[in-house]
Amino acid sequence: MKKEQVVNCQFSVWYPIFKKFTIKSSILPLPQNVIDYLLDDGTLVVPEGSISSQQTHNDSSSDSEADDDVQWSDDESTETVKAPEFPEFNAKVLEAINALGGRVFPKLNWSAPRDANWIALNSSLECQSLSDIFLLFKSSDFVTHDLTQPFIHCSDADSADPVISYELALRKWSELTPGGEFRCFVKEHKLIAISQRDYTQHYHHISKQEASISHSLQGFFRDHIQYKFLDDDYVLDVYRDSCGRVWLIDINPFGPVTDSLLFTWEELSSGSGLTASQAQDDMPQEEGPAFRYTTSEVTVQPSPCLSYRMPRDFVDLSTGEDAYKLIDFLKLTKRHQEAEESEGEA
Ligand SMILES: Nc1ncnc2c1ncn2[C@@H]1O[C@H](COP(=O)(O)OP(=O)(O)OP(=O)(O)O)[C@@H](O)[C@H]1O
Ligand SMILES: [Mg+2]
Repeated sequence: MKKEQVVNCQFSVWYPIFKKFTIKSSILPLPQNVIDYLLDDGTLVVPEGSISSQQTHNDSSSDSEADDDVQWSDDESTETVKAPEFPEFNAKVLEAINALGGRVFPKLNWSAPRDANWIALNSSLECQSLSDIFLLFKSSDFVTHDLTQPFIHCSDADSADPVISYELALRKWSELTPGGEFRCFVKEHKLIAISQRDYTQHYHHISKQEASISHSLQGFFRDHIQYKFLDDDYVLDVYRDSCGRVWLIDINPFGPVTDSLLFTWEELSSGSGLTASQAQDDMPQEEGPAFRYTTSEVTVQPSPCLSYRMPRDFVDLSTGEDAYKLIDFLKLTKRHQEAEESEGEA
């Protein structure tokens, strides 16, 4: 994976090319002071005027008062917290949100704050205001990754980093059912592999409709994407809706910075071990992509490719730092075993 491939996978690069086949979105340049604010650990999360009193109260835990780094208002009350304000940017964001129907899914150049949804009041990435977006962005390691080390894992590490213009991508909020999401791996302009995106779940309809899903994803790729993107190798995220129509969700670099899901990067880069699925029986003229999906309710997927975004719990477990987590993990494993045994008996 080269730096240029990462550059080409920025939202603002691929969106204009594939606008017709993806969710309606707006792209706003991020002013430098907003970038500074996002990177600054010391400032409080949400700008003044856009915060509910309950949130303010939670942020203002009593021991924070001793923290000199925090920008407090003159008011001695802990209810009013002064954080930087960005009135012009705020107005542009609100205008874009309204134009997109009032609810948006936010991203930076590459990443959405998927690791931070737990912090939002609705436990979702749905945003209606700049403060909603800031809350997620400031809590997200994925967003920080975009800002601080977008070219990590690139093979041309010695070359100068390309200059990046940071942007806020706002996408119209769309209720996507996880069972309809697939990740497609494209190598040398060829669709070589398809993985169920949410591999932690077993979706009955995927195994039942494997052939037609694979067929429609191949058709979508061939008709709308192939040879139109700037690189030969890339990873496509797509959504197949309940009518069978396929939509482009995202384009990612072909390399370890992208989660390889039910494949390994070794398999994908070498192309070995990728056998075409049964789905190809009705299309003998050309060998199709390998198609993997989760086949059982009981799934433990310790993919080594997940290490860059490995949950803290797993790290603690593997280093033996948290005995309670280890006990929980063992209990969970036991439950899985029992479930498997009872399934076997049935
Ligand atoms: N417009 C949208 N409305 C609602 N949910 C969305 C929207 N776009 C994406 N999602 C959901 O958020 C998930 C992540 O989106 P996306 O792929 O754009 O983020 P990402 O940061 O690039 O993820 P990754 O790191 O896996 O590439 C999608 O799988 C989908 O479930
Ligand atoms: Mg992505």
